[in-house]
Amino acid sequence: MVSEMRLYTEAEFEQKAQQFSAVLSSRGVQTKVEVVEKLNARFYRLNPELALSVDIDGLWLCANGMKMQPDWKAESARLKRASLKSEMIARACHLAEKPNLIDATAGLGHDSLLMAHLGANVTLLERHPILFTLLEDSHAQAMQDPFLSAVAKRIQLVFSDSADYLIQQAVQHNMSDVVYLDPMFPQRDQNQQAIKKQAQVKKQMQLLHLLLPEDGEMDLGDNLLELAQKVAKRVVVKRPRLAVFLANQEPQHQWQGDACRFDAYFQHDLLV
Ligand SMILES: C[S@@+](CC[C@H](N)C(=O)[O-])C[C@H]1O[C@@H](n2cnc3c(N)ncnc32)[C@H](O)[C@@H]1O
Repeated sequence: MVSEMRLYTEAEFEQKAQQFSAVLSSRGVQTKVEVVEKLNARFYRLNPELALSVDIDGLWLCANGMKMQPDWKAESARLKRASLKSEMIARACHLAEKPNLIDATAGLGHDSLLMAHLGANVTLLERHPILFTLLEDSHAQAMQDPFLSAVAKRIQLVFSDSADYLIQQAVQHNMSDVVYLDPMFPQRDQNQQAIKKQAQVKKQMQLLHLLLPEDGEMDLGDNLLELAQKVAKRVVVKRPRLAVFLANQEPQHQWQGDACRFDAYFQHDLLV
């Protein structure tokens, strides 16, 4: 990770920026707050290196003339269209039963937002300090939103490596109904079999990938499956449609979509 990142802001938001800087520092990310005259498209174009910024809409990750945040508000329209019947993820995770669910790979938190909207009580885990801080800001903003606040109340954020968290839950016999896993996945699967041409990676994903390690050292999350199976009777793994199984373990059930699929693993003998 970059040793010290720039955190750009305008004079009006400097105090807010200093607060984010302190929070990031407590999570091991050192930032240098720099007050600029105008945070506009031109500024971002002229300052293309990976950085953070703070404006009226909160914390942003920026690079290459673009900026992104998890932006849960922008998901509202999608949430309003979603239903237990229409969403494959709802069937895979049994959301009709309003499960206690651990999403062990938060990312931008969009899957969790949908699952919480459809009834789940979600514990959302993310280990990346910058991503976690972006998520925390989106969550705080969602709590102030008339539509999203009810959803955000069902989401609890935890800054942790999931492996550590799941081990701790297993030791303490804290069982959940579902563990949901969506680890990073390289462009090619582990058999070097080309995945069908993927749709252009969205802007958010492009920036996200700048934060996370290159393909060669990408953590594919294989270790999480066995740990998840110790704390939930149902483990659901989201995969690109043609990807190999997580940890090479064949699931008991699959739901297939156009771009992705959900693999489910059931532990009927797990005592809860
Ligand atoms: C593909 S993204 C998940 C996308 C997410 N489902 C969404 O809807 O935005 C994977 C995320 O999991 C996180 N992650 C991977 N392994 C992890 C682990 N062991 N502990 C915590 N977070 C992890 C990565 O940092 C990354 O942000």
